[in-house]
Amino acid sequence: MIPSTEDIEGFPRLLHGADYNYEQWLDFPQILDDDLALMREAEINVLSVGIFSWSMIEREEGIFHFDWLDGCFEQLYKNKQKIILATPSGSKPAWLSEKYPEVSQMTVNGTRQPHGGRQNHCRTSPEYRKACTRINTALAKRYGTHPALILWHVSNEYNGMPCYCPWCLTAFRAWLEKRYVTIDALNAAWYTTFWSHRFSSWEQIYPADSSIHALMLDWQRFTSDQTIDFFLAECEPLRRITPDIPVTTNFHGPDVGLDYHKFAQYVDVISWDSYPEWHKTPDDEDAAVKAGFLYDMQRSFLGKPFLLMESSPGAVNWQGVSKKKRKGMHILSSLQAVAHGSDSVQYFQWRQSRGGTEKFHDAVVTHFNTNDTRIFHEVAKTGSILKRLASITGTNKESQAAVVYDFQSNWVLDNAQLPRNVGKNYQKECISHYSAFWKAGISCDVIGAEHSDFSKYRILVLPMLYMLREETAEKIRRFTDNGGVVVSGFLAALVNENDLCYQGGTPGGLTDVFGISVEETETIADYESLIFSMNGQKQKAFHYADHIRVLGAQVLGSFDESENGLPAVTVCKYGKGAAYYICTRTEQEFKDQFFRDLCAQYSVNPSVPWNIPKGVSVQKRNEVVFIMNFNNNEVDIPIGKNEYINLPENASVCRTITLPPYGLIIVKLAR
Ligand code: GAL
Repeated sequence: MIPSTEDIEGFPRLLHGADYNYEQWLDFPQILDDDLALMREAEINVLSVGIFSWSMIEREEGIFHFDWLDGCFEQLYKNKQKIILATPSGSKPAWLSEKYPEVSQMTVNGTRQPHGGRQNHCRTSPEYRKACTRINTALAKRYGTHPALILWHVSNEYNGMPCYCPWCLTAFRAWLEKRYVTIDALNAAWYTTFWSHRFSSWEQIYPADSSIHALMLDWQRFTSDQTIDFFLAECEPLRRITPDIPVTTNFHGPDVGLDYHKFAQYVDVISWDSYPEWHKTPDDEDAAVKAGFLYDMQRSFLGKPFLLMESSPGAVNWQGVSKKKRKGMHILSSLQAVAHGSDSVQYFQWRQSRGGTEKFHDAVVTHFNTNDTRIFHEVAKTGSILKRLASITGTNKESQAAVVYDFQSNWVLDNAQLPRNVGKNYQKECISHYSAFWKAGISCDVIGAEHSDFSKYRILVLPMLYMLREETAEKIRRFTDNGGVVVSGFLAALVNENDLCYQGGTPGGLTDVFGISVEETETIADYESLIFSMNGQKQKAFHYADHIRVLGAQVLGSFDESENGLPAVTVCKYGKGAAYYICTRTEQEFKDQFFRDLCAQYSVNPSVPWNIPKGVSVQKRNEVVFIMNFNNNEVDIPIGKNEYINLPENASVCRTITLPPYGLIIVKLAR
């Protein structure tokens, strides 16, 4: 865990910082001097340095030039800033690719990628690993005891882009052999009798046959595992030489081909790069819900605060259209991360580059090159708010509800060829379930199926959990038996962890818990919807509708007789708990009402007892309540005879909180 900022001398507060690409400005000493004053003015207390510095540090093999980085450390230290030091493996120097071509990834056709770009190294190459160990060792020895250093930032945004070089293929085959032991066991697990795909030796396996879904799933698992293994190899000298400096790597995406639930187990602190698409549509609620979902995922990985390692203070330059943040949005979006459990607000990047592909990506200090810019003022204001929020540092959030987001199930669902393949939209489906909790002001974790403990929750939501491991099925059974409330969406548990279909009805292994068995799934075309009724109201069903046979469940909602007349929503008492099944994709309003009612029924309470208007998010972190307006218009929140929060002094007699467009207030719980 990153030392609480309370424990760091001179740091009794949340981190506020940025990527600082100091090496781009070495020929401009005046700019470096100006930066220090500007950082103080913006209340910046931490900088991430060295992220893409390899070719500046090690200009030829084994010859290090630390003078400029020493200068950077000294200047920032004197300026009372802390440093997050990156290892530079995200982008390799040209001499390395030239001397050891194996460090570059190979495409599926066996062609070596040309040098350039970034994040495209081979994770298995012994030469790349050796080179990373050499530079990471040198960095750890030189800066490991520097008083400014607080955290290692290992590499930058690892991804799951596959490499098909001989090193990777050999490692993959060894990974398979460890998993299956015999080729016969592999053939059985992969169902290779289909289309005559039986293998008789490990060497025959090449991970490019998308018709063998289990092969592709294992290849994705291997690529993710190999990235974790590469990360651990990078960490080895850091953890050996500087055991007291925690380690992170910045997660992003999140669907970048890595199983982050597994990866998270190996980092000391989670850090996240967040780039929501603000103002892309007239209404920002969806973008805010998605950002909240992703923040809650980061917090849930290890059940503790995370760091917002990167965010843009303005527009980015890699989206089709990226809007400038409207007035208020910068502070609101930054504090949103804190409300969901971040202990920092950090930016990409401190100073806007003059050249390179990111020269038109906004930064704290833009090409306008002064402190008198809209962006700079908003960043400085964010810094002053973070300073006042010191007491929140290190505190957590409590959630009684959780939505399961399973990376591997998403991979295998993506590969699956179903009767309906367009618009599977796993991530969207998970977010729309989470959205119901967000709108109701009910804290909700976003957890994994494999690595997370379900027992601490009251309500567990499994949207579209297509692949279900047998151990997870057992966990769900125990959870429900012990009094938990589980809600499953459609297409649940069709396949096991080898992508083999469950026989005898789904959700596989859990038909008795849900008291239903799905016989088949109906495909609904884009031009149509089916109608089901629940609590006297007609509801629309889209895209998929499971045909349910009732085995003991109570039917809560059914399709119209004119359609198939089958159950749409069921509940089954199991042990001390209850298992709900919603067999189709519903409208958002249905989910909002369903989960509001469910939470009321099972005493899962919102942070505040008021009706929360559309586009407003209320998040409670420890004793602090964040009330955030993502609407581009003023909103009144009627709080009645409020007894829950300490209102700001000038508002103590009011019965309404008024928030300006993109405004927020942060208040303490009254008790
Ligand atoms: C991130 C990356 C940064 C920078 C930023 C631009 O994904 O880590 O280095 O490229 O995007 O938005």
